[in-house]
Amino acid sequence: MNCELKNSLRPLTGEGRKLFIETYGCQMNVGDTEIVVSILQQEGYRYTEQIAEADVILINTCSIRDNAEQRIWGRLSEMRRFRKAKPSLIIGIIGCMAERLKERLTEGRDAVDVVAGPDAYRDLPRLLREAEAGGHGVNTLLSTEETYAEIAPVRLDKNGVSAFIAIMRGCNNYCSYCVVPYTRGIERSRDPETIVREARELFANGYKEVTLLGQNVNSYRFGEVNFPELMRRVAAINPALRVRFATSHPKDISDELLEVMASHENICRTIHLPAQSGSSAMLKRMNRKYTREWYLERVAAIRRYMPDCAITTDLIAGFSGETEEEHRETLSLMREVGYEFAYMFKYSERPGTFASKHLPDDISEELKTARLQEIIELQNELSMESNRRDIGKEFSILVEGTSKRRKDQLFGRNSQNKVVVFDAADGVKVGDYVRVRVSDCTPATLLGKRIE
Ligand code: SAH
Ligand code: SF4
Ligand code: F3S
Repeated sequence: MNCELKNSLRPLTGEGRKLFIETYGCQMNVGDTEIVVSILQQEGYRYTEQIAEADVILINTCSIRDNAEQRIWGRLSEMRRFRKAKPSLIIGIIGCMAERLKERLTEGRDAVDVVAGPDAYRDLPRLLREAEAGGHGVNTLLSTEETYAEIAPVRLDKNGVSAFIAIMRGCNNYCSYCVVPYTRGIERSRDPETIVREARELFANGYKEVTLLGQNVNSYRFGEVNFPELMRRVAAINPALRVRFATSHPKDISDELLEVMASHENICRTIHLPAQSGSSAMLKRMNRKYTREWYLERVAAIRRYMPDCAITTDLIAGFSGETEEEHRETLSLMREVGYEFAYMFKYSERPGTFASKHLPDDISEELKTARLQEIIELQNELSMESNRRDIGKEFSILVEGTSKRRKDQLFGRNSQNKVVVFDAADGVKVGDYVRVRVSDCTPATLLGKRIE
């Protein structure tokens, strides 16, 4: 009804044209894609999962490491081939690469029809119009205010149980290796009322878990409302709504936040706390603003408040000047903390960052690979040990779906974010909470039995 009314007032840019979006990079990008779909549906575009029927293809891109960008360049040339068969097809690059590589993407043989940076999505209807008129639609302005606060994202992942809510954008930390502050602009927080409203609506629509998202969620602040207060408000919506958050910077893991977590059972017992390195000298070169000792003290504080809290991390192997000793310190930190899980990367120099100008990328590819391999092997051991420790324990599991391997099994996650697989039973469905006792494990999964 609404749509027809709007149609009669002014022509919509989209006019039923089909939109396909492919998303790379972090959860922030996944969330942004849902905002882009929402903005463009308002304009009459129709979202499709079939690339073959698309009139507009957008690629939401990531610049975090060179290999992320290389993959996307490869994908872009495939899409250009699609265009040979359908010359009216519009191809756009949005997200972090659009921001970082605007010149290359607007001129010469790599040029695409539309280039939109992460703060320019409200402008997409106009940019697409320009492209459809035969020109280029380009907007890579970064904003100090844009949070897309009142735009209701179109939820594209269909599980209907767990959703992400972006609570802030940008990053002010300028870790010396990282491109994010340049592609995403400065930090800004979203009005807490719009966040709580979104979470409440999700819960009313059957969702049982929300993850509050930002590059640095725990530096959230909107007026008087800081991150612990925001968590309090979201957790108060309903005890049956689980609340998670990512990613926290170790420097901002306050006792106040740990207290709020400990006093709400529905705030999940897991903290993603990227260490990057176990060496204080290296952390200084990385501009991480904490030392190994500070980090370990925060880990001890987490354990004091919540002995059952899982701790996960990100680690970089082979950053500028990394000595063998510094690498060993990363391995010893991993052992000392006993991470449940880690994302592990080889350092990739990013143009424009402090490191690219002042800290040489001087660790050979072979050494980076060897060190990363050691880190991965150690983490596999630690994950397996952590899973073994869970055998015999009982957990409350939020059911997310049917196991990919066996149709007669369901899977879900415990509060610690570990995947638990168990036998399906009559009456148990996606979105239910069930109690499960762990009987066995693999390095990546817990296997359990339902407790009636
Ligand atoms: N804001 C989050 C993470 C952002 S990017 C945080 O600070 O924790 C995700 C991860 O990518 C980082 O934690 C880091 O481990 C890794 N990363 C960032 N820049 C990188 C680079 N230039 N090379 C390799 N890994 C990088
Ligand atoms: Fe990058 Fe550091 Fe910001 Fe994380 S905190 S996004 S690693 S600059
Ligand atoms: Fe990548 Fe941008 Fe996210 S660089 S990791 S998509 S903020």
